[in-house]
Amino acid sequence: TYYTKAKFLTSAPDIRHLAEDDGIEVAFAGRSNAGKSSALNTLTRQRSLARTSKTPGRTQLINVFELDERRRLVDLPGYGFAQVPIEMKKKWQRSLGEYLQKRKNLKGIVVLMDIRHPFKDLDQDLIYWAVAAELPVLALLTKSDKLKSGKRKAQLMMAQEAALAFMGDVTVQTFSSLSKQGLPELETVLDKWLEI
Ligand code: GTP
Ligand code: MG
Repeated sequence: TYYTKAKFLTSAPDIRHLAEDDGIEVAFAGRSNAGKSSALNTLTRQRSLARTSKTPGRTQLINVFELDERRRLVDLPGYGFAQVPIEMKKKWQRSLGEYLQKRKNLKGIVVLMDIRHPFKDLDQDLIYWAVAAELPVLALLTKSDKLKSGKRKAQLMMAQEAALAFMGDVTVQTFSSLSKQGLPELETVLDKWLEI
């Protein structure tokens, strides 16, 4: 697929350090340990494009991957990591909100949430900001391999119900980096956002 072409482009400590141009990008966001980096590696079929870790809070920088000269995937640092000082958390939440509101290049956001614990407070804040910025949201319920099919369907239905409350373009999809469940569906959504 198109996504195998992804190459590391740059790391930035802050959204203000990202270059402004007329390219288009899709961001991957979610709580620490939700599986953002794993999903990016699965999508791009590259084992170590984005670094994954059992230790939450691994990705501290914004990592940008390019698909071609005008299309990019952005791996945002995870939020909700308990060991981070409160001031840093607040700063990060603010700059994330700002990124969603102001970044012209951004065409959609994938919010990754562990299928066992979807829509925690910080996830909800993020989705509300995205909806306010009129950005489409894909709520990706990760690690779907952790649940048996009955429980997985129940979680999906519950999440679809919860997604309606945001009153915006919020769709829900289950996903597993381990089994590749949901990968074609993820690609279909990204293809649309990135005009592939
Ligand atoms: P931060 O960079 O800290 O924000 O975390 P992240 O969201 O990038 O998570 P990461 O991809 O590093 O994955 C966190 C842990 O979850 C790792 O131990 C992964 O192996 C595991 N994991 C990720 N995706 C899956 C999945 O689909 N199934 C299972 N069973 N484990 C997964
Ligand atoms: Mg990561």
